[in-house]
Amino acid sequence: MGSWAVVTGATDGIGKVYAEKLAKIGLNVVLVSRSPEKLKAVENEISAGSNVQVKTVAVDFGDGNHIYERIEKELQGLEIGVLVNNVGMAYKNPSYFLEVDREDHAKIINVNIFSCVMMTNIILPQMIDRKKGVIVNISSASAMMPSPLLATYSASKVFVDYFSQALEREYKDKGIIIQSVLPFFVKTNMSKIKKSSFFMPTPATYVDQAIGTIGVASKTFGCLAHALQGFVVQGLAPDWLVDYVSLKMHIDIRKRALRKKQK
Ligand SMILES: NC(=O)c1ccc[n+]([C@@H]2O[C@H](COP(=O)([O-])OP(=O)(O)OC[C@H]3O[C@@H](n4cnc5c(N)ncnc54)[C@H](OP(=O)(O)O)[C@@H]3O)[C@@H](O)[C@H]2O)c1
Repeated sequence: MGSWAVVTGATDGIGKVYAEKLAKIGLNVVLVSRSPEKLKAVENEISAGSNVQVKTVAVDFGDGNHIYERIEKELQGLEIGVLVNNVGMAYKNPSYFLEVDREDHAKIINVNIFSCVMMTNIILPQMIDRKKGVIVNISSASAMMPSPLLATYSASKVFVDYFSQALEREYKDKGIIIQSVLPFFVKTNMSKIKKSSFFMPTPATYVDQAIGTIGVASKTFGCLAHALQGFVVQGLAPDWLVDYVSLKMHIDIRKRALRKKQK
């Protein structure tokens, strides 16, 4: 039957490319994402481009606890070698904490944090039984420093990063690779970036490099351009400057978004 990779948030952006690339190297893939139509389209695309099996599970990770029983059932009997916890949700635009609905804060926590914990909890035991497996958790460069106007989002990504690092130390002796990935901007729907560049790559360019770091780095910015940005932010720029730039950038993006909404 062969080994499977499970990818959450697999119908667009970074997650879709992970799914495509894992299929290209011969893994069957389970796509776990929200929209059934998009799942069908990606299933067809992957099936047309490779000889692997593709299975889809339509769930909204924002819904919280009750979805995991169904996910666990759908995954029963599959030998899962790779889990990519990619699904993520951010604010529509950078916003002050009280401008974001309470419901959206809860959804961000469910989608970004709870999904990562629960999917790992479902899949890790069989990896431990086989003494091998790979778990890739997509955090964010916004976990490196406090990100004003993205408070709940960036704090959720700190969780993902620390969760990964702690598990990596717990389970590396058991043959499990656990990786935390911290992208800066990638051209996707979430980032709303319209044009890619060296520092804001397409998901294809980004994942192409990020996937090569599995088993090499337990924590990575994922691609060369982002490693350079990380070096500047962590190693060269003083904290006050990073704070100033981050606050100003998010206030400016918020203002532009509000102006656009008013038009
Ligand atoms: N793009 C960036 O600049 C950037 C930077 C740092 C970190 N990241 C992280 O990278 C990861 C992927 O981001 P992306 O930019 O590739 O996002 P994206 O292009 O917006 O894709 C998100 C994927 O997740 C699915 N999804 C969203 N909400 C969901 C939910 N509630 N339940 C189930 N599936 C859901 C979407 O499916 P539907 O379309 O059906 O909703 C889509 O397949 C996220 O964890 C994000 O935080 C991204």
